[in-house]
Amino acid sequence: MPGTTRAYYRRLFPWDADRYAAHLKALTPQGRRWRFCGTMSDGALEEHAARALDTGHVEGCFLDGKLIGAFELFIDPEPPGHAQVALSVDPAQAGQGLGTELIARARRRASLLGAPEIDLTMAGDNLAMIAVARHAGAPIVRSGPEVGATVAVPPPDLSRLPAAIALDEASLVQSLSAAMLRAGRAAVARAMARPAMLRAAFARPRIRTA
Ligand SMILES: CC(C)(COP(=O)(O)OP(=O)(O)OC[C@H]1O[C@@H](n2cnc3c(N)ncnc32)[C@H](O)[C@@H]1OP(=O)(O)O)[C@@H](O)C(=O)NCCC(=O)NCCS
Repeated sequence: MPGTTRAYYRRLFPWDADRYAAHLKALTPQGRRWRFCGTMSDGALEEHAARALDTGHVEGCFLDGKLIGAFELFIDPEPPGHAQVALSVDPAQAGQGLGTELIARARRRASLLGAPEIDLTMAGDNLAMIAVARHAGAPIVRSGPEVGATVAVPPPDLSRLPAAIALDEASLVQSLSAAMLRAGRAAVARAMARPAMLRAAFARPRIRTA
């Protein structure tokens, strides 16, 4: 795991959409294609990030304040409990076990949300994701250019519920404090820029003297 002692995990909320979109945009072009099974423009990634945070459970790993990995978990109403997960890891942090850790966390959360298993779909040449699915004990099934894997979810353990609620509450506080800090910094930067703008606006034209 990258910087095990410094990295922390928390849930992402709708006001984290810009940070989540920035993380997705930082994937390599191939990583972007693998993540979304096709091409996605920056604008489409921004829309996706906002939608995912509105509708699903998204958890991220932060290192030195930067979002370096995330999973999206969606539980379908039909069939009940059917879950899907998608992962993304910053290319600079790949191959250090973060993908494996994210899927373990997605399994624990899916268990608490009542999903019996998680479906993964990935491109047949996405060897890193296939390795992550194998680490999670999922049998790999090839169908055409894609590969499917079903990850078993442990039965719900209600003794974990208070810890999950506490994690969500802590995530909310951290996320709101970070958002307020960013807004505060932006306001200070605007205020600092204002005198320069005013000086420029009221600057007297220079009069050349012979
Ligand atoms: C797939 C992804 C999430 C994996 O994240 P990660 O942090 O690198 O995953 P891990 O470090 O836990 O494991 C990666 C495994 O893949 C293996 N791997 C990496 N590249 C590989 C390659 N080219 N060939 C074979 N195995 C490879 C690693 O050796 C490792 O296996 P190991 O632990 O047995 O050594 C990350 O590469 C990513 O974000 N890819 C782009 C987006 C994507 O494809 N998302 C999945 C769509 S569902």
